[in-house]
Amino acid sequence: MTTRHHSLAKNKIKFLMLEGIHAQGLDEIRRSGYQWIVTEAQAPPPEQLAEMIEDVHFLGIRSRTQLSAELLDRARKLTAIGCFCIGTDQVDLTEARRRGIPVFNAPYANTRSVAELVLAEIILLMRGIPARNAGAHRGQWLKSARGSHEVRGKTLGILGYGHIGSQLGILAEGLGMRVIYFDITAKLPLGNAEPRTSMEQVLEQADVVSIHVPDTARTRNMIDEQALARMQPGAHLINAARGRIVDIPALAAALRDGRLAGAAIDVFPAEPKGGDEVFESELRGMDNVLLTPHIGGSTQEAQQNIALDVAVKLVRYSDNGSTMGAVNFPEVSLPDHASARRIMHIHRNEPGVLQAVNGVISGASINIAAQYLQTLPDVGYVVMDLETDDAPALVRELDRIPATIRTRFLY
Ligand code: NAI
Repeated sequence: MTTRHHSLAKNKIKFLMLEGIHAQGLDEIRRSGYQWIVTEAQAPPPEQLAEMIEDVHFLGIRSRTQLSAELLDRARKLTAIGCFCIGTDQVDLTEARRRGIPVFNAPYANTRSVAELVLAEIILLMRGIPARNAGAHRGQWLKSARGSHEVRGKTLGILGYGHIGSQLGILAEGLGMRVIYFDITAKLPLGNAEPRTSMEQVLEQADVVSIHVPDTARTRNMIDEQALARMQPGAHLINAARGRIVDIPALAAALRDGRLAGAAIDVFPAEPKGGDEVFESELRGMDNVLLTPHIGGSTQEAQQNIALDVAVKLVRYSDNGSTMGAVNFPEVSLPDHASARRIMHIHRNEPGVLQAVNGVISGASINIAAQYLQTLPDVGYVVMDLETDDAPALVRELDRIPATIRTRFLY
């Protein structure tokens, strides 16, 4: 693997922003002094992209651009990748790291959007609106108070009290709900929320259960027949987390039997890849179930937040070397480099590299004002603030260290 480095003035740094990234992100980059921004509304096919990224320093993509090792090899100047979305599966993260390229995303920019949708679903479910709405569309007039409840004073059970779960809890308390939750790690309760020591307790005590855990080996089919059987008769279930957490046939059975009064499901074990594929689910046609096409986090505001969040992370990495929030890279949070020269050295994490780096610097009789190091098993990232007037000479020396992947210094 050849060494790559760049130490450029801002007007020489090229951003390629694909897939119609929100204007707010582009504005943020421009405001930070970078004017060379090329935008593209679509995800170009791989052959075209391979040509487009040859001279690009920062690449912004969304979920449709696949970045393989072969493509990364063509991007010889690529310094960082911004995934302007939540997931990063579309990028070969390990291969990017091995080439010294951190990848950033915006994992929590749509927290509020999900929490608001779930809040609305709680009210709609507890009033029996899905079935009454379906009936009205067919000409039925289901005017009765049967099974219709205010949410005030009812108990909301939250499974997974992370970003979304805890925000939902606060919003639900605003409506007068009682909030209980279970999380596998100890979480500080917000407002008047009360932790429970097991998922079972939450299932047994809640009028409505909302799931906000990640997709892990432990959460897969976590809500199965036994779990559903623990829920109160007439309770409601909401899943806007991940599709494999709920056993859908078991849920369909509980709804059919009338043990559960209703459900709102946004995510499914198998989801259509695009608008032309048919959505198949055992829950289709059930009047008491709200079905939404994985749009819990899909709002204009979330798109803006994502754009801003990722743009800031790219700019911060370019301006100061900070890798906080990178999904594939040693995370280093850095103060501004006031007077000293900042040199960033990305290397294969082999014995003796740091010694070699320090050897180069002490060999040049340069004083190290500050040094920050983080490593992952395969890659290390060291940032140094040095009192030197000749950073380019030092970069050339550092590039000679065999384990060097990339060296960069800041203007
Ligand atoms: P987060 O990482 O902030 O919180 C997840 C919480 O679940 C953590 O506190 C964790 O300790 C806890 N947890 C993990 N395993 C658990 C278990 N077995 N039992 C109980 N608690 C457990 O995640 P965030 O941002 O709150 O997202 C929650 C879920 O929502 C994720 O699955 C995420 O993928 C999904 N999501 C769905 C969206 C949609 O469009 N429907 C949009 C955004 C997120």
